[in-house]
Amino acid sequence: MDGNGRWAKMRGLSRTAGHTKGVETLRTIAKKCYDIGVKNLIVYAFSTENWNRPKLEVDHLMKLLSKHIVNFAEELGDRKVRIKTIGTRDGLSPQLIAAIDKAEQATKNNPMTLYIALNYGGRREIVDAVKKMSHDGALNNLDKIDQLTEDDFAHYLYASEIPNVDLIIRTSGEERISNFLLWQSAYSEYVFTDTLWPDFDETCLINAFEEYTTRNIRKGGV
Ligand code: IPE
Ligand code: MG
Repeated sequence: MDGNGRWAKMRGLSRTAGHTKGVETLRTIAKKCYDIGVKNLIVYAFSTENWNRPKLEVDHLMKLLSKHIVNFAEELGDRKVRIKTIGTRDGLSPQLIAAIDKAEQATKNNPMTLYIALNYGGRREIVDAVKKMSHDGALNNLDKIDQLTEDDFAHYLYASEIPNVDLIIRTSGEERISNFLLWQSAYSEYVFTDTLWPDFDETCLINAFEEYTTRNIRKGGV
């Protein structure tokens, strides 16, 4: 969800105002995804690298996340959206962790999932998976290591039920992966758009889906 800061700057607003507007965009896009039948939506809300931002901005983002994770659970829960975070909890405040637990618990039986990648890094996820495997005793003998399959490994990722990701949309003209879903994106299509995240609306979403569909049709034919 890139471009909040630039969106705000263009309007003479503070970066934090851009993030606040970005939350509104997420609400709109999540609802639209539900309405058109998307089963899994994963958004990159805060990366493990984002801690390097000025403390004021990090504090604002953390507060926004605490507040809106619970709001989303209430609002989108009615629409049958499950909220699930992926990432590490290291460094998160007890308030934010409590908000995450509350939102996840309240929505856990809903059929569409909005995954919020929060304090997430793709490499960190892979290393955390190795640590979990090790704690589980899954690497205890050489035979087990030799027989390890990709599926066995994927079982230890933050949310092992996430399927191969079909489409990744990156906003704001950036054309990088930025440590997002390194494992799950092995077969993803990427759509890059210059639109800044706060301006990304339902039409932009549908356009990205159409682009994805066109590519898939081409793949099946000649
Ligand atoms: C949002 O956009 C990304 C978050 C970490 C929430 P940015 O804050 O990266 O916006 P730009 O790139 O400065 O425009
Ligand atoms: Mg950015």
